[in-house]
Amino acid sequence: MLQSYDDNGVIVLEDLYDAETCNRLLERMDVIVAGFDPARHDTIFSTITWRHDQDSYFLESGRKILPFFEEDAFDAAGQLVGDYRWSLNKVGHALHDHDPVFSNFSHGRRMRLIAKGLGMAQPLLLQSMYIFKPPRIGGEVICHQDAPYLWTEPQSCFGIWVALEDATVENGCLWGIPGGHKEAAPRSRFRRKPAGGSEMVILDKRPWPEEECVPLEVSQGSVIVFHGQFPHRSDPNRSDKSRQAYVLHLIEGACRYPPDNWLQWPDDDPIRGFDG
Ligand code: FE2
Repeated sequence: MLQSYDDNGVIVLEDLYDAETCNRLLERMDVIVAGFDPARHDTIFSTITWRHDQDSYFLESGRKILPFFEEDAFDAAGQLVGDYRWSLNKVGHALHDHDPVFSNFSHGRRMRLIAKGLGMAQPLLLQSMYIFKPPRIGGEVICHQDAPYLWTEPQSCFGIWVALEDATVENGCLWGIPGGHKEAAPRSRFRRKPAGGSEMVILDKRPWPEEECVPLEVSQGSVIVFHGQFPHRSDPNRSDKSRQAYVLHLIEGACRYPPDNWLQWPDDDPIRGFDG
């Protein structure tokens, strides 16, 4: 498996979690979503200052549990078209530390074994995202790497993508380029600007050879582990089935973590490994 991970930048662990475990997370998210204030977040994402607000909202979300909407969830007047629950794109980025159910799951034995299996000496759980990929309006995610958002020196980030529901080509499963992680460095870097806000710095402008993308269809409870430089994408979900997933990103604690990375934490809320 390690050989396959090194060669391809990705491995699939079939049926790692049972349906009961997945359902517990799905149900927990219903409770979390019910606790959000729809009015407040509608405003943030529908005013003419949307871009500015979105940026600062994102930067604040590193150690919070905040909802993000699908672009197609709003009409021209900025009002939600459908049900609030199924207008969400994701919830991020500190479920793994700030919600008891997701925390138990994220800091659990199987996650620790994956990190250990990949040779991490001091794994730290940096970020978590619950992805809804709702029916019909689930947006496309263009081909990208994750390391630009979770920069360490040397690079150490990887993702653990847990299918909470079956993920198929029809409902917008992950696609990726096997072996595409092997370049010396990530092709871009997302960082905070000294004067405030954030920016994506492009380090290599070449387009991804998307014709090399292969679908990573997985059943509920299966896990996709992928290298931080593994190029991946997903298609829009036009089907009537959601494709919910929970994604954790880990980094190696011994690596340098730059102070201009977007995700920072206060002293009284540090990111943790598996023992803390
Ligand atoms: Fe990604």
